[in-house]
Amino acid sequence: MSSLPQLSIRDTAAVVARVLFPTIAKGPIIRRPRVVALAEKLRLDERAVATLRQLAERYPTGPVLLRQPFRPQAVVLDPAHVHRVLAETPNPFSPASSEKKAALSHFQPRNSLISSGREREVRRALQDQVLDSASPVHRLAESFLPAVQQEAENLKRTVLRSGTLDWESFDRAWNRLVRRIVFGDPAADDIALIEMLQQLRSNANWAFLKPRKRRLRAQFLGAVEHRLRKAPTGSLAAQMSGVPSPDTSAPVEQIPQWLFAFDPAGMATFRTLAAVTGHPNVLSRARQEITEKSSERSYLPLLRACVLESLRLWPTTPLVLRQTTGSVRFAAGTLPDRCGVLIYEPYFHRDEQRVPHPHAYFPDRWLNDDDGDWALIPFSEGPAACPGRHLVLMLTSAFLSHLLEGLSLQLESSERLDRGGHLPGTLNHFSLRFTVQSSN
Ligand code: HEM
Repeated sequence: MSSLPQLSIRDTAAVVARVLFPTIAKGPIIRRPRVVALAEKLRLDERAVATLRQLAERYPTGPVLLRQPFRPQAVVLDPAHVHRVLAETPNPFSPASSEKKAALSHFQPRNSLISSGREREVRRALQDQVLDSASPVHRLAESFLPAVQQEAENLKRTVLRSGTLDWESFDRAWNRLVRRIVFGDPAADDIALIEMLQQLRSNANWAFLKPRKRRLRAQFLGAVEHRLRKAPTGSLAAQMSGVPSPDTSAPVEQIPQWLFAFDPAGMATFRTLAAVTGHPNVLSRARQEITEKSSERSYLPLLRACVLESLRLWPTTPLVLRQTTGSVRFAAGTLPDRCGVLIYEPYFHRDEQRVPHPHAYFPDRWLNDDDGDWALIPFSEGPAACPGRHLVLMLTSAFLSHLLEGLSLQLESSERLDRGGHLPGTLNHFSLRFTVQSSN
């Protein structure tokens, strides 16, 4: 069995310094605003993509192995291999990689994403059931969409008074909505729970490097359990309580993933707002869609495509990680057992050889069933693909639809998005600001 090509020390150092380090420094579990700002200024994401592009030119068949003393680590360079690795999950490509376990155990040690074997099966099945992962419109849409409308309308009133929409005001409204969706209306202002989770997530950013705060974790999970028991009908938590499942499914520990993952959904929504308002043609078609479907916001195909397109350009899960559960053969050689497998999404999403208009905002690509030889995977794919995908797209597109209705938004410093159709590799959502007027 021949081994895969191994990178030189110099090439390994380039991948670590230009791809892994900046991505991890931005905060994989909770974003660090200062590092995100620096990444935008220094164009770190563009440099990371360029580094992998240069490698792929030299190793067109990939994957390649980094030269490092610890566990073997492979980098995927071919879209066909991306599809293969994600399809062959959880065996031989387990999503429960050592790094992910180290990070996520800080607040949800028995979550589906870091579980294996039978435990993973029951936990993932519970997630699929509660998040209604197979259905484009969640079964609780009738309960969720009025909450979306109320929070968006409250936000609109606030920003019309101040004349400015910034990340702080957006995030406040978005988080109220998230708590209502997850635990029901009584939890709308339940900041205490979120503060505990944020502390745990800040620690989780350091994965192995920081000790776990076990007492805080127990307190947090106890608080989640309490809210799960009390959750009113119409919330995700109440759905969870209603599903008969074995103890091993660990329902309480499936919930922090939702709270945590609604953060990137908010970032994607805010970036989508910037992208859409900067593309008058897309904006006018989105407004037309909203008018035509004014009473039916559960399925807005163009606005969903707009969110997907901003997730393609600025993916919120840039690193998709797997770990082999045995040796795996590729044409170029064999991956050893317990080898880390790394898929860096931005490289595949901006693949200049294969993806049409890779640096432009072109939501229509998501409306056609055009399966090219590329890998656009903002929600991953295969058996560990995000079970919240449809729910996220339903909520974000509905929220956007209300914001675009009756508001005229002008992005401040819009030149950030105007580089002759070449959109930047990083879009720092923390610093986006819109000037707002009523358009009625
Ligand atoms: C923009 C928002 C989101 C994006 C881009 C996203 C993306 C992803 C990705 C890429 C994965 C797979 C990770 C991997 O393969 O290792 C994943 C997993 C997961 N996501 Fe999301 N996600 C989002 C929001 C959500 C939300 C809001 C929920 C729940 C309400 C959710 C629930 C989950 C769960 C439970 C898993 C683990 C699945 C498993 O164990 O197989 N996600 N997500």
